[in-house]
Amino acid sequence: MKAMKQTLLALCLTVLMAGVQAQTGVGDVVYVPTPQLVVDEMLLMGKVGKNDYLIDLGSGDGRFVISAAKKYGAKALGVDLDTYLLKVANEAARKEGVTDRVTFREQNLFETDFSAATVISTYLLPEMNLRLRSKIMRMKPGTRVVAHDYSMGDWYPDEQKTLIVPEKKVGNPGISYIFHWVVPALAAGVWQSTLNIDGKDVPYEFTMEQFFQNIDGPARAGGITGVMRGKMSGENIRFSVTGKGAQKIVRHEFEGKLAGETISGLARIGEGAGAKQVAWNAKRVKRGEFTRAQDEPEVK
Ligand SMILES: C[S@@+](CC[C@H](N)C(=O)[O-])C[C@H]1O[C@@H](n2cnc3c(N)ncnc32)[C@H](O)[C@@H]1O
Repeated sequence: MKAMKQTLLALCLTVLMAGVQAQTGVGDVVYVPTPQLVVDEMLLMGKVGKNDYLIDLGSGDGRFVISAAKKYGAKALGVDLDTYLLKVANEAARKEGVTDRVTFREQNLFETDFSAATVISTYLLPEMNLRLRSKIMRMKPGTRVVAHDYSMGDWYPDEQKTLIVPEKKVGNPGISYIFHWVVPALAAGVWQSTLNIDGKDVPYEFTMEQFFQNIDGPARAGGITGVMRGKMSGENIRFSVTGKGAQKIVRHEFEGKLAGETISGLARIGEGAGAKQVAWNAKRVKRGEFTRAQDEPEVK
């Protein structure tokens, strides 16, 4: 149902875009600008700041790139195939006094090396987002991605919002959907750690499966077998383990930072007033892989 809705919206976008403000037929999607209030919300959602390097894939008149530089002091690059729009964007950058921080390049976005970006922004068709997805997933963990109107298939967003935008005439008129993802670090594999609980060292082992940012799998603590479930946000890991103890269900919460083959953080043992917080360090003893998504497009 969701996919059908997206396809319908994409179809409307393709048809309507052709008649509205399209400069040329160059590229894989015609030009329609993201309304400025939506650009502003997306830059906020992506937490763009002065240390960021934003790349807008299909930059149009340059509004994402120029706004990121002007409002947040970020460096930014826009790539587009439309020479007229690139000229408009360069003129706007001059007018706004941000030419020292922005660049516009005539380039196919599918051939762009965007590995140095800390933030990616897009307003592209759903199948284009899907084609870009595996390349985005290989970016540095913690890289943020913001997209207007179309998401990325089975890679569900970490955050999304629906905005009322009366001036929007294409896609779903009057409404913009905005999405935010954080590229997750690979946590899949087998992790071992020892927690000191009430002066006693207890061995833990987690076997994590990972589907995009979601992690889950079996967990063992001492003689107890349980289930772990949680999420990655860049290198930050957070999960809970639930298992059946001698007399009751026990629940632990874990959070930490993953660096290579280690995790350091804290574990919260027990619940309510009796809960204890202890240091938690884990070591990966077997590296896993991301679970392949059903909707993974063919690599051409
Ligand atoms: C829907 S517009 C979005 C413009 C701008 N990002 C915004 O949100 O206001 C898509 C842009 O992508 C460009 N484009 C389409 N296919 C492209 C490709 N393969 N490589 C680079 N740019 C492309 C179009 O020229 C157009 O400017």
